[in-house]
Amino acid sequence: MPVPQWSNLNLFRLTALTALCFAVIPLTNAAAFHGSSHADQLLFSTPGASLIAGPASSFESTSSSPKTTFDTPKQLHLSAVKSDNFTVLSHPNFPNHSIRVKKSDFCDPTVNVYTGYLDVDSGAKHLFFYFFESRSNPEKDDVMMWINGGPGCSSSMGLLMELGPCNIDMTGTSSNGTLWNPYSWNEVANIFFLDQPVGVGFSYADYGETVETTEDAAKNVHAFITIFFEQFPQFAGRALHLSGESYGGRYLPVFASEIYDQNQMAAQEGRNTINLKSVIIGNGITDISTLYPGRYEVECGTASLDVPFQSISTCVRMKAALPRCQKAMQDACIDQFDAINCRAAVSFCDNELSTGMWATGRNVYDISKPCEGDLCYKENDVIKRYLDLPSTRSLLGVSDSGPSSFSACSDAVGQAFSSHMDKWAVHTQDYIANLLDRGVRVLIYAGTYDWQCNFVANKMWVEKLQWHGSALYAASEWRDWSPDNDLTSPKAGEVKETPLLSFVTIRGAGHMIRIPFFVQGLTMILT
Ligand SMILES: *[C@@H]1O[C@H](CO)[C@@H](O)[C@H](O)[C@H]1NC(C)=O
Ligand SMILES: *[C@@H]1O[C@H](CO)[C@@H](O)[C@H](O)[C@H]1NC(C)=O
Ligand SMILES: *[C@@H]1O[C@H](CO)[C@@H](O)[C@H](O)[C@H]1NC(C)=O
Repeated sequence: MPVPQWSNLNLFRLTALTALCFAVIPLTNAAAFHGSSHADQLLFSTPGASLIAGPASSFESTSSSPKTTFDTPKQLHLSAVKSDNFTVLSHPNFPNHSIRVKKSDFCDPTVNVYTGYLDVDSGAKHLFFYFFESRSNPEKDDVMMWINGGPGCSSSMGLLMELGPCNIDMTGTSSNGTLWNPYSWNEVANIFFLDQPVGVGFSYADYGETVETTEDAAKNVHAFITIFFEQFPQFAGRALHLSGESYGGRYLPVFASEIYDQNQMAAQEGRNTINLKSVIIGNGITDISTLYPGRYEVECGTASLDVPFQSISTCVRMKAALPRCQKAMQDACIDQFDAINCRAAVSFCDNELSTGMWATGRNVYDISKPCEGDLCYKENDVIKRYLDLPSTRSLLGVSDSGPSSFSACSDAVGQAFSSHMDKWAVHTQDYIANLLDRGVRVLIYAGTYDWQCNFVANKMWVEKLQWHGSALYAASEWRDWSPDNDLTSPKAGEVKETPLLSFVTIRGAGHMIRIPFFVQGLTMILT
């Protein structure tokens, strides 16, 4: 089967963006996704098909009241899942994990929608997910995971503000609180949105268990994905793409590497492997060494705006502090990580290089806008109100054992990660290099108006990344792109492509804005 190249990908089916270092969205086209599906491995092609014969295991139908347990096959076609109560699935290979899933009328009436929890670690941790079938060909299209960053932010932000099948209604015109999004990524892929780690969004732990590092979080995400593919064999062998933004730049390389490494063990033991194809990161934080120089360029250079918006006096102070910041970080965080000294270095860098930005009152996720609302986005306040409605919780099947109210981002999770210096302690870019060296494709994209996890910083680390294709990447030219590759349209950004690694900028995109301009390309791509 031909390996799809990024050049097959059309980057523009998209709209707007996400959370914390949120950004904008390029999308891939149907051809690329379809090209990598494994139709031959589909066990069912008709939605009517239900249970697969297999070894008996426990299969329960639960509700708030009595629980019934049946002896039934261990695997299921998703379409057999009901909407009134959770179906609980367990698997002999994963005795400590199970999935609770129900059908839902949430968000996208044009496809089958499922929500539920993965109950991991002997049922003590419950990871909430939303799953939307593809609007094209759910029985063949690839599977995608989307996660937001933080650490600690809920993926419902990306779902409801950016690339999900519906967006939060900011106009007050919808009777159900959301508006159908014609530019959702599920136009081309089956996609799930995962609230992780425990403590994020609707995910919760029974006994106060926490996950405090990305490497730990990866284990639960791997369990989640593995069980998902095992329990719903209709997806077996389907290409998997891990996507996300912001702190996803730290999460996804590690999650993908965990999946890759576990695949090798599974293969040795004759178990099923996961067909990991790509990692897609929007406005991410991956290599900390370029973060502050990037921010300087966004504020004081002409990388984002033709005329720098920061005051001259602040820029002069920033420029003077930059070498010291860089040296301190190099010594204490990068060359040899030392928690105390690294924290001091970061504190110095933030004082000298970040306070000026916050003082401007601009949205740190979109320098062209003022900072308004929770996390600088008014949408977040509306999303919280919507997700806290009893009717929404019931639609989603949110458990009363979980959080009684929704937070876009969990401070507790953020602080726990910070206590381990999770963002600074690990050379996350080396996970990317290793994935590339093993043939996993990587797409890095960034809106040019984001400051937090800005495109300049991302460009810089991708340029200096050491992997087997570095020379090819370095020799590739930047070129302009426009929606639908229609060069008469205004330039939408720049792209640099190699077969495995590509970088795309989206001009004037920050984080959670819908950009109708990008969206115009969609209909052509779909036909
Ligand atoms: C779902 O749960 C409710 C409440 O316990 C119960 O009345 C109903 O019969 C259940 N439905 C099914 C299909 O099991
Ligand atoms: C399941 O959990 C128990 C204790 O909680 C542990 O001893 C056992 O090793 C776990 N099994 C697997 C397969 O991880
Ligand atoms: C919610 O209402 C909007 C129109 O107001 C409609 O487009 C959308 O499909 C509805 N969503 C659901 C889940 O019914």
